Amino acid sequence: MKDPDCVNFLQQILPKLHLRWSGFQRVRRQVCRRLRNRFLKLGLEDFTSYRTYLLDHPDEWSNVDACCRITISRFYRDAVVFEQLCQVLPTLIQLGQERRDSSICCWCAGCASGEEVYTLKPIEHFRLSGLKLFLPLHILGTDIDEYLLSRARRGCYPKGTLKELPKPWIAKAFDGDRQYCLKSAFREGIEFEQQDIRKQMPDSLFHLILCRYLAFTYFEPMLQQKVLQGILDRLVPEGILVIGKKESLPINGKSQLIKLSSTGIYQKKSANYPPSNPR
Ligand SMILES: C[S@@+](CC[C@H](N)C(=O)[O-])C[C@H]1O[C@@H](n2cnc3c(N)ncnc32)[C@H](O)[C@@H]1O
Repeated sequence: MKDPDCVNFLQQILPKLHLRWSGFQRVRRQVCRRLRNRFLKLGLEDFTSYRTYLLDHPDEWSNVDACCRITISRFYRDAVVFEQLCQVLPTLIQLGQERRDSSICCWCAGCASGEEVYTLKPIEHFRLSGLKLFLPLHILGTDIDEYLLSRARRGCYPKGTLKELPKPWIAKAFDGDRQYCLKSAFREGIEFEQQDIRKQMPDSLFHLILCRYLAFTYFEPMLQQKVLQGILDRLVPEGILVIGKKESLPINGKSQLIKLSSTGIYQKKSANYPPSNPR
């Protein structure tokens, strides 16, 4: 398989799926491999014949879409982001207390096999539960991929996915040596749900939303704007949005957010922002 043939194919098909080529450039090899396996399974020879096949078989687009999902994730991914989030979470708990909420509601959009969702549990146990003000975290993980969600519900991982997680936490939060399975205390207050964020989002409000390495890397600008608006609609005033450390937000929602760090942590402005100037 020649790389230019696949690049050419991707540049033509990604806009039809509302995805953008620039997001896929670096990770194209795994997508190309999957697409090639798919067209060989259909008895086709090359990307040119696959393109023709797609014209005659519109149902095949769902398989192309599935081939274009990047599923890389790991616990405590971009450690500095979680270190900074740990500084912000007490303020979020205070906000929850002021609102008389019984828990801090978190949504991980595009949660893959649950690595990000379960990253929040040791943070709750080891960094937050000892604070004078405390509220438990309730975490919803959503992903389009049912297979990844089944792995998330199982909660067992190879050692490699834990390498960024603080070492003492691994021993306390996981059982096992070849497969590391989360202990029951670190699975409480967690739900997983299958959702395509392009078409559906949760009905409730959240104090914290993580949407990392999904919409703001792979989606085309218009779709990014739509997703960001959906996220903002579901974030309580003064709630926190975390995007990927290397991602940036589309222009439309920026006016509703305050940038808290250069690593992708934002706060939704309060209803009465900017604060009135006391004279
Ligand atoms: C690169 S992973 C990022 C995982 C995690 N957020 C992280 O940063 O480690 C992207 C995830 O988004 C999921 N995904 C892709 N398209 C999606 C969609 N339209 N709706 C919901 N999830 C999607 C993929 O299945 C994958 O699990």
